[in-house]
Amino acid sequence: MASPLTVVIFGASGDLTSRKLIPALYNLMLKGRLPAEAKVLGVARTAYSDDAFRDHLTPKVQEAITGAGDLFDPAKWAEFAKRIHYVAADATQAEGLKPLQDWFAANEGGAGGRRLFYLSVSPDIYPQLAGHLGAAGMNKEDTGFRRLIIEKPFGHNRETAVALNEALHKHWKEEQLYRIDHYLGKDTVQNILVFRFANTLFEPLWNYQYIDHVQITVAEKVTVGRRGGYYDGSGVLRDMLQNHLLQIMTMVTMEDPTRFTAENLRNEKMKVLSAIPIPTVEKARKAMALGQYKGYHAEPGVPATSKTPTFAAVKLEIENRRWRGVPIYLRSGKGLKNRYSEVMIQFRCPSHLMFPLPPGQTLRCNHLTVMIQPNEGIKLNFQTKVPNVDGVDLQPRDLSFDYKDAYKEKALPEAYERLLLDAMMGDAALFMRADEIERAWEIMDPIISAAEQGDIPQDYAVGSEGPACSDELLAAEGRKWQPIG
Ligand code: BG6
Repeated sequence: MASPLTVVIFGASGDLTSRKLIPALYNLMLKGRLPAEAKVLGVARTAYSDDAFRDHLTPKVQEAITGAGDLFDPAKWAEFAKRIHYVAADATQAEGLKPLQDWFAANEGGAGGRRLFYLSVSPDIYPQLAGHLGAAGMNKEDTGFRRLIIEKPFGHNRETAVALNEALHKHWKEEQLYRIDHYLGKDTVQNILVFRFANTLFEPLWNYQYIDHVQITVAEKVTVGRRGGYYDGSGVLRDMLQNHLLQIMTMVTMEDPTRFTAENLRNEKMKVLSAIPIPTVEKARKAMALGQYKGYHAEPGVPATSKTPTFAAVKLEIENRRWRGVPIYLRSGKGLKNRYSEVMIQFRCPSHLMFPLPPGQTLRCNHLTVMIQPNEGIKLNFQTKVPNVDGVDLQPRDLSFDYKDAYKEKALPEAYERLLLDAMMGDAALFMRADEIERAWEIMDPIISAAEQGDIPQDYAVGSEGPACSDELLAAEGRKWQPIG
C-alpha cells in the first residue's frame, strides 16, 4: 500500500485555497488522477474544526467550479471533502508548528508518509515559515519526500529573490523547492514546445532569417478591484512580465533539450534568459511604454498619487545566433478590451512579390498565432487567391486548430491541476529553478527602475487596447500590435 500523502496548505483560509487549490485537487479526484491516499490538510491561524473548514470551503468551491463552466456535484464534493482536514497553527512562531506535528503523529501512522507543503501565505513570511519547518525537522525526507511549493511573488527584485533563495536553501535542497508560475501549468503554454519540437514544419523557420518579430500579449479585462493594496506595490511589470510573460517568452525562444527532463528543460530556459541583454535604465526607458487605466486611483487601497503602471509594453532582444535582431515585444495590462492572451509570430515578407497589389494595399505577411486563452488554439495566416475575379486578388486566410473542436471530450484543465500533480509526482519541469528566477529579475530590474523613475504612466480608458504610447512604440519601428481579442 502506498504511504500516506498529505498536501499541506499554509494560508488555508485565503482566497487562493478556495478559488484554485481545492478546486484543482477536487477536479483531479473526479478525473481519477488524484492518488487515492492523498489527503489535504489546511493550516491557518483561524480556528476551524475539520467540518467547519469544509463548510467554509463548500460555497466557495462551488462558485469556482460553476464559474469555470462545470457542474458542481454535491455528492462527489462530499466524498472529496472527507479527505480535507484542518489544523489551526501560527507558523510565524517557532513553536507554532507543534499542532501540525501532532496531527502528523496522530494521522500518518508509525511509518510516516510523504508531505507536500504549499506556501499560500503572505510572501514576507516565506523565509520564516520555511525556516520553522526546517528547524522542526520537517524538511527531512526520512519517511518520504518533503517538498515546498512557493507561490509568486518570489521576491520584489533580484536582490530580494537572491535573499529568499538563500533563506530557503538554509533548510531545503533545491530539488525540494517548487517555485510556481501558474502560466507554465496551462496546456496551451506547454503546447508551444510540442508545436515547435514535435513537428518538422515550423522549427526550420523559427529564427531571424524568417521571423520579423514576436508579440506576446496577456491582456486582462478585469481591473485590480479589491487587490489594490497588493497590486499597487507591484504593478504590471512585477505582477505579470517578470514571471508569466518572460516564461512564455522562454518557451517560444529556447532551444530543445536533448531529452525532456526537468533539469534539461530548465538549463535551456536558463540559456535563453542569459542571452537577453540587461538594458541600462536609459535604454529600458526607450524600449517600453507604460499605462495606467483611468479610475485606477479610485480603487480601494490605491494611493491618489500612485504611479504604478497597470499596462506595460516592453521590447526585449535575444543575443544569440537564432534570434539576433528579432525584437520580442511583451505586452500586458488590466482593464483592457478583452481577456485575451496570445503569442504572435510575424514572419518576414517574401523577398519579391510578383503579384501587383492595388495602390495603397500592403501585404499582411504570414503570421502564426498561438492563442493561450480564451478560444485556445493555433492559427496560421497565409495569402490566398480570391476565386472568380479578374486578375489576382490576394486575401489572407487562416488554417486553424481549435482545442474545443479537436478535443471535445477533454476540456482544458486549470493550470493548478497539472502543477499540483507534478509536484506530488516529483516532476519539477514546470517549476522555476533558483537561477531562472534570479535572472528574470535581473532582466526586469532596470525596466522597473526606469518605470519608477519616470513620469506618471499615460492613461487609457477601461475597455480600450491600452495607451497610445504602446502603439507608438511599435509604430516607431514600422510595426503594429495585433488587436486585443
Ligand atoms: C496572477 C496575477 O499571477 O495572474 C494576477 O497576480 C492576474 O494579477 C493573474 O490576474 C492572471 O492569471 P490568468 O490565469 O487568469 O490569466
